[in-house]
Amino acid sequence: MSDIQRAPKGTFDRLPPDSAAYLAARDALVAPLLTASYGYVETPVFEETAVFSRGVGESTDVVSKEMYTFSDRGGRSLTLRPEFTAGVMRAFIEHRLYAGALPAKLWTVGSAFRYERPQAGRYRHFTQVSVEALGVDDPALDAELVALADAGFRGLGLTDYDLQLTSLGDATCRPQYRDLLVEFLAGLDLDEDTRQRAAINPLRVLDDKRPEVQAQLADAPLMVDHLSDATKAHYDAVRQHLSDLGVSWVEAPRLVRGLDYYTKTTFEFVHRGLGAQASIGGGGRYDGLSAALGGPDLSGIGYAVGVDRTILAAQAEGLDIPVTGGTDVFVVHLGEEAKRFAVRLVGQLRAAGVAADTVYGGRGLKGAMKAADRSGAARVVVVGDRDLAEGVAQVKTMATGEQVAVPLGELADSLRASV
Ligand code: HAM
Repeated sequence: MSDIQRAPKGTFDRLPPDSAAYLAARDALVAPLLTASYGYVETPVFEETAVFSRGVGESTDVVSKEMYTFSDRGGRSLTLRPEFTAGVMRAFIEHRLYAGALPAKLWTVGSAFRYERPQAGRYRHFTQVSVEALGVDDPALDAELVALADAGFRGLGLTDYDLQLTSLGDATCRPQYRDLLVEFLAGLDLDEDTRQRAAINPLRVLDDKRPEVQAQLADAPLMVDHLSDATKAHYDAVRQHLSDLGVSWVEAPRLVRGLDYYTKTTFEFVHRGLGAQASIGGGGRYDGLSAALGGPDLSGIGYAVGVDRTILAAQAEGLDIPVTGGTDVFVVHLGEEAKRFAVRLVGQLRAAGVAADTVYGGRGLKGAMKAADRSGAARVVVVGDRDLAEGVAQVKTMATGEQVAVPLGELADSLRASV
């Protein structure tokens, strides 16, 4: 197969019938937001590159290695969004939403792009539901966001996951902690690559999965033990509210996220049924993001859920994602007159809200009955020119095989009543 006959590496097509489960999963993840006053926002798929390099952080893999960056014909450097938070914050600033009622509660859903090494659950084009509450720094709001993410997963029936929670401190305590960690790391036996990583962001070393590195980190200083009084009080209050909301979590003092903007509350949902790519969602508070993008010095908190990974998690738990839609009534016709009748009947049924379909392309009775069967319709109408002459159509109930002749004048109403 030539390259233009397949989707680009790390991407995939969503096709029916599986795509119905995708839509249902996406809607289930969004459903809790609609009961919590979040408003839908849509930003461009690409932004000025600086939105991400300044927003997400130059030292992250996302910015330094994974962005799809290009120059447009006007010479601007643009980047396909690797995540939504920076773009949503850009919109919050541009439209001065900070001058209105706060927090600005926003959600969005769509494609994100990262040039990552593709593997199960990790794609170059993937879908996130992303949620932000901007402009207010209140631990109760942190708890609300975490609980909403949790409710989305629960709504799909997921149970086999952990909510990992920690606090990453803020500008008043993280610099001192960072110095402590740098000092600690300097005394370890680390390879050159790891040393370089430590020089850019020492916290990231804590997340190193290699046993020889982990063994040396047992006594590493942890941010949670060095929080300022204010950030500690903030974190305590978040945990109190989460308990009140009935959300359980595990403390994850070594949690390191792949984006640089996080401060204070930080969390990740990790599914136990997935392999290396086990994070089904994550987020946290970001005190400096608005100012970094030229906005007022306001805090925000948010999370994003990976829709594709959530579907894999549901599969790993053997869950069926209930889909809506499908065909209620399928109309099979025999003869020219019957075809005209069938097309008209399908139009009437659809206008009345009944999902109806018929056969196209003159496939004969056998092919038409096969199509009817495949459609999954509960009722199949069979109508021939002779039936029409007699003023009836045959209505077959697929579950029982029972077939009755229904007068044409009653057909649409009786079908509508039967679904
Ligand atoms: P993130 O942890 O980079 O956070 O991504 C959130 C979720 O998107 C991940 O937990 C994962 O499920 C999914 N995801 C990420 N990369 C891929 C990939 N290559 N293939 C498939 N799924 C993927 C953010 O993006 C932050 N903007 C979240 C946030 C919002 N923080 C505050 N507000």
